[in-house]
Parts: sequence; structure tokens; C-alpha cells
Amino acid sequence: MDDREKEQSGCDRRRFFWTSGLGALGVTGTGGAVVLVDFFHPKVLFEPPTAFRVGRPEDFPVNSITADYDRKVYIVRTEVGFFALSAVCTHLGCITRWLEDEGTIACPCHGSKFGKDGSLAQGPAPRPLRRIAIRLEEGELIVDTLVEVEKDSILRA
Ligand code: FES
Repeated sequence: MDDREKEQSGCDRRRFFWTSGLGALGVTGTGGAVVLVDFFHPKVLFEPPTAFRVGRPEDFPVNSITADYDRKVYIVRTEVGFFALSAVCTHLGCITRWLEDEGTIACPCHGSKFGKDGSLAQGPAPRPLRRIAIRLEEGELIVDTLVEVEKDSILRA
């Protein structure tokens, strides 16, 4: 190898290290920028509201159970008034189904059954369905799934 070839080989090596170093810096800088932007971005859970309107009292026939599976609640109207039940099974959290023919609320996962009032009829669920808050506001019924109420609580409307 003559002097010229040696010089050119050293130049190529130098250029290679410079390019590699700049590439590594670019990757590191980009990664750091992504982490920094993510750090300052607000961490918010976008979940549906827990309190929502379900309709007017006259929309619900007397002695009926109306299932709202999207919002996981049952609106029950008796001759006395209204109450709301969570449709979430108290065993492992599956969404129960209202079986009108059988007059029962059943869980498709492990076979628990509940009465129309949410009472436990058959396990393995350990507890009745949660009775949740329902109130009348400006002529509309509002259910709040976060607020659990007494099992004999009823809204007279
Ligand atoms: S989740 Fe309902 S019975 Fe198991």
C-alpha cells in the first residue's frame, strides 16, 4: 500500500466514524425528544361519564326492566317507582343479560342468576347486583354508576 492509498484509507475511516457518530447522536436526540414530548403530554383517561340521562319516566312502562348494555345498567320501574342496577356481574365482571322469558338476570360467563331486584339467586357470584343511584332532574332520569345506594332504595316518580 503506497502513501496515497494509506491517506485515502485513513480519510475513509475518519469519515465513517464521523458519520456513525452523527447517526448515533441523531437517534439518541430523536429518542430523547420523543420521551420529553410524551412526558409533558397530559396523561388523561378518556372514559365515558359515569352519570348519564336514560330517558323520561314515562318512557318506562310500569313493572318493566330496561337494559342498557352499552352503559351496563338496568332501569327497573315498579309500581312504586324506579331503581337502577349495575349490569356488571359481581363474580368476575361479565355483563349480565335480562332474560325476560325466565324473569331473571343471568350471567353468561359462569351461570350466576339474579332476581329482578338484583338479589342473588344462584352463584358463583358472591353478592347481589349493585343498586346504583338514580335521580330525576328536569324531567329526566339520571343514573350515576359510581354511586351505590341501599338495596331497598327507590326513586318515587
Ligand atoms: S362473571 Fe358472572 S358468574 Fe362469573
